[in-house]
Amino acid sequence: MKKRNIIIDCDPGIDDIVALSFAIANEDKFNILGITTVAGNQTIDKVTSNALKVMSYYNRNIEIAKGQEKPLLREKSAASNVHGENGMGDYQLPEAKLELSSQNAISFLRDKIMSSEEKVTLVPVGPLTNIALLIKVFPEVMENIELVSIMGGSISGGNRTSCAEFNVWADPEAAKIVFDSKLPLVMSGLNVTHSTGLYKEDVEKLAKSTGKATELCGKMLEYYFKGDHVKEGRFTPIHDACALMYLIYPELFKFRHMKVDVDCSDGISRGNTIADVREWIKYDNTYPKVLVDVDLEKFREILLNDLYKLDEMV
Ligand code: BDR
Ligand code: CA
Repeated sequence: MKKRNIIIDCDPGIDDIVALSFAIANEDKFNILGITTVAGNQTIDKVTSNALKVMSYYNRNIEIAKGQEKPLLREKSAASNVHGENGMGDYQLPEAKLELSSQNAISFLRDKIMSSEEKVTLVPVGPLTNIALLIKVFPEVMENIELVSIMGGSISGGNRTSCAEFNVWADPEAAKIVFDSKLPLVMSGLNVTHSTGLYKEDVEKLAKSTGKATELCGKMLEYYFKGDHVKEGRFTPIHDACALMYLIYPELFKFRHMKVDVDCSDGISRGNTIADVREWIKYDNTYPKVLVDVDLEKFREILLNDLYKLDEMV
């Protein structure tokens, strides 16, 4: 299988770090051109520091560029209740050895995409602020983008509000720009990511492990179980890993192409992704591919195997 060029745009964030770990575990399938950060789960300084610390801890010399510190129009707001004050569920990693790129994320993304011989896949798993700015400021990049695999949105209710998923709610105007862009998009929304994750027993076993990756992921994920967003206290979604899992194992998912509108109003519907789920309306593949179902057991098995595999690689 040919390696896919990817850039991960993230706000680490506990599940972002599990997703980054999954990406590194699959470096035989992904050519990771870089990581960009965006304010979301925590402030831009905290999420950027987390990305640098994690890659240093894994001894990976991956370029990291800092992105936008706030949404396009909205006030910034963190998700400390879910990811903790440091964005890693209070887990403390050693200081980073890696240095931050001198470029900002937008020009970094532009240069990486334009200088790549093969097209590039973007994997945004935080608010879409950087990606929206990228395609507005440097529209020429669109020609060389293979796919945008997004964790965000939902076609069945929200988490930040009753109808809105956090990443889209945080910067709805940016999400609208990306969903309206006509770029090839895959949307891993809450309707599938709520069925992609790990059981409490899996997390406890990971946390007891002495492997570098498994212990880190397990200890951080234990933090989720202190909150009330885990399913009946026995299962936690790992939302962001879904956007990467799709790229390697698309056969685990069912999908439909749909028109997806983003509600940019200020009212109770802010950040709602309104997908046209009417089955009798046919949308072709120029519309977003919305994931609608996933094989939970295979997802879980692959994710766990890869985290243990990563212990041997770092
Ligand atoms: C998304 O919100 C964040 O808290 C997670 O990292 C994920 O990207 C889920 O709604
Ligand atoms: Ca995230």
